Amino acid sequence: MLPSDLIKYKRNSQKIIALTAWDSISGSLAEQSDADLVLIGDSLAMVCLGYKSTLPITLDNMIYHANAVSRGFTKEIEKQPLIVCDMPFLTYHCGEDKAVEYAGKIIQNTHAKAVKIEGSEPEIQSVISRLIRMGIPVMGHIGLTPQNYLNLGFKKQGKDLESQEKIKREAFTLEKLGCFSIVLEHIPELLAKEIQKNLKIPTIGIGAGNFCDGQVRVTADLLGLNDDHPPFCSPIIEGKNLLKDKLKEWVASERLN
Ligand code: KIV
Repeated sequence: MLPSDLIKYKRNSQKIIALTAWDSISGSLAEQSDADLVLIGDSLAMVCLGYKSTLPITLDNMIYHANAVSRGFTKEIEKQPLIVCDMPFLTYHCGEDKAVEYAGKIIQNTHAKAVKIEGSEPEIQSVISRLIRMGIPVMGHIGLTPQNYLNLGFKKQGKDLESQEKIKREAFTLEKLGCFSIVLEHIPELLAKEIQKNLKIPTIGIGAGNFCDGQVRVTADLLGLNDDHPPFCSPIIEGKNLLKDKLKEWVASERLN
């Protein structure tokens, strides 16, 4: 599947389901659960590497984890999910040339067919359009953008009319620049609905209600593998507790043997 195929999903009203992955086990789980898209999200800095934010993760870290994820895939190539890899903090903030070099490294050294970039400030717009012209598909990401948490916090965005108008403008700009889809994170459901209705490219929501063209979740949050999870992602199982209890049982029983 190519990134542009996601636009056909929207045209056919076919919902897009995306999961994050960070190693071969989570990659295998995401692939075997038939997700359409696997995102190597920089959230792996927090959910897998124990950092307090996504800022410390590097380009080399992302490439290393992206390759671990695809090693977990076992389906024949045409049936594998589309891989999209996040560009980490500071890899697209220092000019177009550097961004092309770093995005190119992701595309050349992993199985990702696209990169995801947070924000839509003018500097970022020029990076996005250059990457697309150079043959590197880009997924946008607006609303709560965790790489900007020092300015915005990890809070819901688009709470007042002015910021809602801004988010709408950003979405239209990203579509015009040629992004093949946009992640809408932690914004009001009705705002996401309006954006979804007015764009030709698919919106993929997380904490943005049910009207997006697709949904993406951080798999570790969904499986309850961490002590904390964001308010908009209720775990479907208490994975950490379940696994911990089973391991405790095993350790205790082995002590008696
Ligand atoms: O890094 C990530 O996992 C993401 C998702 C929250 C969309 O960007």
